[in-house]
Amino acid sequence: RAPGILTGVRVLVSAGPTFEDIDPVRFLGNRSSGRMGFAVAEAAARQGAQVTLVAGPVHLPTPAGVRRINVRSACEMHREVMAAAASADIFVAAAAVGDYRPVAVAEHKIKKQGDGGMTLCLTQNPDILAEVAALPRRPFLVGFAAETQDVEAHARLKLEKKRLDMIAANRVGGGLGFEADDNALTLIAADGAEHLPTASKRELARSLIERITARFNASRRD
Ligand code: C5P
Repeated sequence: RAPGILTGVRVLVSAGPTFEDIDPVRFLGNRSSGRMGFAVAEAAARQGAQVTLVAGPVHLPTPAGVRRINVRSACEMHREVMAAAASADIFVAAAAVGDYRPVAVAEHKIKKQGDGGMTLCLTQNPDILAEVAALPRRPFLVGFAAETQDVEAHARLKLEKKRLDMIAANRVGGGLGFEADDNALTLIAADGAEHLPTASKRELARSLIERITARFNASRRD
């Protein structure tokens, strides 16, 4: 295969949802299909990158040439991402990591009690991307922001708050985003924004990898 634009570059991608177990039969999850992150991993590998994909619970085939590590919960994803992040050149965080998990996982199935409601106590999960951003030798960081409203404004705030190099923002719902084949992204960096119109996630991933590579190369020249 001809050398690609990412030959020799180590790319770490997180993808999919996280599942937070409540008891042996129940969990808290979200609607992320993992398709955007898997497409990014595939596009990076096709460009010659050494790709590690930390995948939440999804039923998707592993893209060719990609090293895949399966995880279930946010804590597991945190552990695997931190282990790989120190030796990564680029980290694309496309996973939809649950913000909270149950304080404790019940050993046995929780039984219905009386006729009233029930309260589940939750605790916050680690912010994986923010922790990678705080590493002394941090990779080039690309985050995703899935929003249902004020997409660009929320994404800009996240870019600054999480100290990212780039963020890919998308509106979820209406046939785009979660559980959909197509997506549309607005790429935002400190110095500007670019809109990538509706396309398949594979096409979008190819464009995204081109933009990331250009900025990553520029950052290495600085
Ligand atoms: O959840 P939020 O919209 O803030 O996620 C934005 C970005 O942060 C995404 O790239 C996501 O993968 C990442 N993230 C993370 N760890 C979390 C929450 C989000 O890495 N606990």
